[in-house]
Amino acid sequence: MTDTVQPAPAGAEAHDGETRRDFITIAATAIAGVGAVCAAWPLISSMNPAEDVLAAGAPIDVDISAVQPGQQIVVLWRSRPVFIARRTGDELKYLQSTQDTSNLRDPESEVVQQPEYAKNWHRSIKPEYLVLVGICTHLGCIPAFVPQPGGSLGSSWEGGYFCPCHGSRYDLAGRVFQGVPAPYNLPVPPHHFVSDTVIRIGENPPGSVFDLNSVEQI
Ligand code: FES
Repeated sequence: MTDTVQPAPAGAEAHDGETRRDFITIAATAIAGVGAVCAAWPLISSMNPAEDVLAAGAPIDVDISAVQPGQQIVVLWRSRPVFIARRTGDELKYLQSTQDTSNLRDPESEVVQQPEYAKNWHRSIKPEYLVLVGICTHLGCIPAFVPQPGGSLGSSWEGGYFCPCHGSRYDLAGRVFQGVPAPYNLPVPPHHFVSDTVIRIGENPPGSVFDLNSVEQI
């Protein structure tokens, strides 16, 4: 059983000293709140998921037709935030550069933090679209989506995810930087494209087998 969900914009923070479970609870609450506040968010879904459907971990369908290059939306699946980002051509080029990969702990995604169909340089099915579980692999905060280069993150920042809790950094494929507290890349959940504009989260493409519980760390 699937249902179409209403995405919410990214942007929630947690605080030092919380337990991992607390972070996840805070994250879910924060995202629900953001979604309620931002009622004018341009993405409109046809239906809202029933609570029992979400609680059961059933797959959800997400309409991505209004997501523009450079934007990200956030949905909840199994009470976890899932980031869906649409990357620009320049961002995709940078992911393939040694300027990016030389900074990364696991540039080839050798650690099982993704299904086989996302074990590639873009860590996704289609290069343009990235789908990640938005939970930092250090202690479970929600990393912020910061696609703009530079700014307060410094002149060497080329865009990616920044975890405000202890400063972990990931590139725009969710690959973790060297020298930060987070040990692993952000996980990629099972997903596939039902059509060009709808992604089903929680279900693998036909013929693929992958269980999110098999990753090294969420
Ligand atoms: S939870 Fe510590 S850096 Fe993300």
